[in-house]
Amino acid sequence: MALLPLAVVTGGAGFIGSHTVDKLIATGHRVVVLDNFSTGKRANLAQHAGSDRLSIVECDVSHGIFAGLAAITAKLGPVERIVHLAAQVSVVSSMANPGCDMQINYGGTLHVLEYARAMGVKKVVFASSAAVYGDVVKMPVAEDIPLQPMSPYGINKLASELALDCYASQYGVPTTALRFFNVYGPRQDPTSPYSGVISIFADRARSGRTLTIFGDGKQTRDFVYVGDVVRAIAAALGDGNSRLIANVGTGQAITVKELASTILDLCGGSSTIEHAPARSGEILDSRARVDRLRDQLGVVAETKLVDGLRATLA
Ligand SMILES: NC(=O)c1ccc[n+]([C@@H]2O[C@H](COP(=O)([O-])OP(=O)(O)OC[C@H]3O[C@@H](n4cnc5c(N)ncnc54)[C@H](O)[C@@H]3O)[C@@H](O)[C@H]2O)c1
Repeated sequence: MALLPLAVVTGGAGFIGSHTVDKLIATGHRVVVLDNFSTGKRANLAQHAGSDRLSIVECDVSHGIFAGLAAITAKLGPVERIVHLAAQVSVVSSMANPGCDMQINYGGTLHVLEYARAMGVKKVVFASSAAVYGDVVKMPVAEDIPLQPMSPYGINKLASELALDCYASQYGVPTTALRFFNVYGPRQDPTSPYSGVISIFADRARSGRTLTIFGDGKQTRDFVYVGDVVRAIAAALGDGNSRLIANVGTGQAITVKELASTILDLCGGSSTIEHAPARSGEILDSRARVDRLRDQLGVVAETKLVDGLRATLA
């Protein structure tokens, strides 16, 4: 019997990574997770305990991935596809320590690409970010506008995209970069100070604590449900679409104020909303243009915010 294709998911113990693992295993892959568990958790993958479809290797991608994968590929055969999600995910940390962000976020990508080049991997899909755009005035944000990242995090995501394109054009490694907007859903860690606003609001609303909005709450965001993000990753992981860069969002935006009241309505608790001074450097508006996602990858982020919020709160 033919072996199932082998995919590597770096950062597979994290929020988006663990949902990606679920999807790949459900669609007939064997998966190797490479993770250093800095923010990821083994509990996020507990649903696959005992499955011969999942292998977990503790590995820091900023030190290279050849050694981490050697023993497992000797046993399971060659890696066919890689989803590269492992990252230092905090914009604030990247401002405090740009060198560290570069080592993990740009250096990690180079190590993944070097492995893909040496081993003839058929596709690398990379988690980029809307942070590559900076503060854009014209909405929705299209992929081909001038890029002005405002943090080392955004710069290293952009540098990674450039490296992907170079490895595709110069070395023939097929690559696709996905620029995620504000991803939310179950398993997002609300205790992290850098976590998405939805998981923080949901956590506070459930326990009756005050929801804090920075500024007037009129800033807008394009919140995309993790299930839709994972469909985009799976579509990009297939053959074709090399050198594609695509936004992953809904194309819709809501204000942070509306978000807070929707979560309070769904929770039905006694929490109140307070305002704190606006945070410097916070962008005002963000909404993805999603034509490429739809036309090139055939994916429409269709989960309604209220349904995604219900799943997250559950
Ligand atoms: N969540 C969002 O809204 C969002 C938006 C844009 C881009 N992204 C990108 O998506 C990817 C996944 O983010 P997430 O929200 O799931 O965050 P997460 O923190 O839950 O996942 C990141 C994972 O990477 C692992 N990791 C970190 N550094 C590592 C290293 N040096 N070596 C190996 N593993 C390492 C962590 O342990 C964790 O499991 C990241 O690349 C992030 O930059 C996320």
